[in-house]
Amino acid sequence: MLVALLLLLLALSNAVSINGDGTCDSIPTLDPRPHSVSIREFGAVGDGKTLNTIAFQNAIFYLKSFADKGGAQLYVPPGKWLTGSFNLTSHLTLFLEKGAVIIGSQDPSYWDVVAPLPSYGRGTEVPGGRYQSLINGYKLEDVVVTGNNGTIDGMGMVWWDKFSSHSLNYSRPHLVEIVASEYVVVSNLTILNAPAYSIHPVYCSNVIIQNISISAPPDSPYTVGIVPDSSDNVCIEDCIIIMGFDAIALKSGWDEYGIAYGRPTKNVHIRNVYLEASSGSTLAFGSDMSGGISNVLVEHVHLHNSHSGIEFRTTKGRGGYIREIFISNVEMENIYKAFSATGHCGSHPDDKFDPHALPQLDHITLQDMTGKNITIAGNFSGILESPFTDICLSNISLSINPVSPFSWECSNVSGYSVSVLPEPCPNLNSSWNSSSSCFTLISSNIHGNSKASVL
Ligand SMILES: *[C@@H]1O[C@H](CO)[C@@H](O)[C@H](O)[C@H]1NC(C)=O
Ligand SMILES: *[C@@H]1O[C@H](CO)[C@@H](O)[C@H](O)[C@H]1NC(C)=O
Ligand SMILES: *[C@@H]1O[C@H](CO)[C@@H](O)[C@H](O)[C@H]1NC(C)=O
Ligand SMILES: *[C@@H]1O[C@H](CO)[C@@H](O)[C@H](O)[C@H]1NC(C)=O
Ligand SMILES: *[C@@H]1O[C@H](CO)[C@@H](O)[C@H](O)[C@H]1NC(C)=O
Ligand SMILES: *[C@@H]1O[C@H](CO)[C@@H](O)[C@H](O)[C@H]1NC(C)=O
Ligand SMILES: *[C@@H]1O[C@H](CO)[C@@H](O)[C@H](O)[C@H]1NC(C)=O
Ligand SMILES: *[C@@H]1O[C@H](CO)[C@@H](O)[C@H](O)[C@H]1NC(C)=O
Ligand SMILES: *[C@@H]1O[C@H](CO)[C@@H](O)[C@H](O)[C@H]1NC(C)=O
Ligand SMILES: *[C@@H]1O[C@H](CO)[C@@H](O)[C@H](O)[C@H]1NC(C)=O
Ligand SMILES: *[C@@H]1O[C@H](CO)[C@@H](O)[C@H](O)[C@H]1NC(C)=O
Repeated sequence: MLVALLLLLLALSNAVSINGDGTCDSIPTLDPRPHSVSIREFGAVGDGKTLNTIAFQNAIFYLKSFADKGGAQLYVPPGKWLTGSFNLTSHLTLFLEKGAVIIGSQDPSYWDVVAPLPSYGRGTEVPGGRYQSLINGYKLEDVVVTGNNGTIDGMGMVWWDKFSSHSLNYSRPHLVEIVASEYVVVSNLTILNAPAYSIHPVYCSNVIIQNISISAPPDSPYTVGIVPDSSDNVCIEDCIIIMGFDAIALKSGWDEYGIAYGRPTKNVHIRNVYLEASSGSTLAFGSDMSGGISNVLVEHVHLHNSHSGIEFRTTKGRGGYIREIFISNVEMENIYKAFSATGHCGSHPDDKFDPHALPQLDHITLQDMTGKNITIAGNFSGILESPFTDICLSNISLSINPVSPFSWECSNVSGYSVSVLPEPCPNLNSSWNSSSSCFTLISSNIHGNSKASVL
């Protein structure tokens, strides 16, 4: 017992030293751009009625010429700036002043239709193409979307209605989508009413999402806050996210398309966030995870008023993996299901998926958490042919709602736990010790053998 305790303490202190190395700890400061123009200079009118798509496109086209001169800023003054979708360029800062609101047009004809992402093979909601995001980046570097708490309002209602009535011809657009880019910052803004996802970095490296407030109504269908997708070196911090479905969802492609594309989401650091997700999960992994998800550090988070707190989702046919996930210092309140890991969640893009492509889920550590008014502590439902392993729970105390039907349910899963209340199911009830993989995961992070792949 003493040995186990010492090892546990060692493990916990080791974890602290990983934190000191997280992606959010090495954020460079942003230099001001040497050139700045206002969107007004391109004929934009901030009356909430005039369509300004051409003004945004022309302004950004003009600012391209400053790329090799330190880049430029496009300044959006107070006003209501209605627009269809437009593309960003490299070495650009889009700055939204306090009182500036970029409003997405509610007419789908002002949103271009683009090809599906290769790692998904088709639109995720409707087969075929998808609407381009309102603010789009493709193959860029050094792009900043920021402000003095300006707002981007996607006016998603029209899209939510079309989704709910099955009248979409293409999959819904996202609000800010940056594809195949490096050095991306989204900060100091309010983002409202996304048609689907609010911020979607996909195939990106070095992404910082800081001090953002994101919301959509609780009944907005499948609206998601931030979706790091096949991206690496991502920092998300100091954000408040209140969504209809998931608040933060990590993804990496869909079945055979995601396996073929093969780009994982890794080295993600999330800290100091407040999340609510009414019908989904505040923190979700998958279910599209075919390129793999690993090396994720989440710390100091508040999860409130939601269906699920922390959820891992996958299904047969996905392939890929979810592993080396370390989540600590979590406070939950009014959550129906605190933890969920399921191997039976999600649909397939088409009938070409390989049912023998089994996903793997292992080396997940959840520690230092409290929960109030939780109905179900955890449901861990692994896959018979590929059980979930090395799930470690430590120092977790959940107060369970008296009407709870059961606290834990486990199948095809194994792991360890120390100081967990209510007491977990027997599969997760073995204490960890020096030869257990749980301890190895944590210690290997500091001893350097997997250092490069840790944050
Ligand atoms: C915007 O970028 C997309 C690629 O993401 C491209 O297909 C489209 O033509 C661009 N639109 C404009 C107006 O440049
Ligand atoms: C967050 O953004 C607000 C304005 O949106 C600003 O006043 C505040 O200083 C920012 N905080 C940090 C930590 O950057
Ligand atoms: C930012 O703006 C939103 C809506 O405009 C407002 O609710 C929020 O309080 C503002 N935040 C700060 C830090 O000023
Ligand atoms: C979808 O396509 C149909 C037939 O082409 C058309 O009538 C309808 O307006 C389209 N819906 C949207 C949302 O574009
Ligand atoms: C956010 O705004 C604050 C206050 O103006 C500023 O100090 C900070 O540098 C900004 N952060 C980013 C990442 O833009
Ligand atoms: C307890 O949490 C549930 C959500 O699981 C919520 O509906 C209910 O209102 C909460 N109860 C209290 C007393 O806050
Ligand atoms: C637990 O999750 C599995 C898989 O998602 C589901 O089939 C099962 O019904 C859940 N158990 C309970 C009691 O909700
Ligand atoms: C247990 O977790 C709580 C936070 O939920 C933390 O304050 C406390 O220090 C942790 N205890 C140990 C022994 O690490
Ligand atoms: C493993 O999962 C399968 C369904 O995938 C279920 O039939 C079986 O009972 C589970 N095994 C155990 C030991 O719970
Ligand atoms: C879990 O382990 C504890 C201590 O090792 C033991 O007292 C308890 O009976 C076990 N519970 C189950 C459900 O196996
Ligand atoms: C330590 O863990 C390993 C692997 O789970 C197990 O085989 C072994 O029996 C455990 N040893 C002790 C002393 O609990």
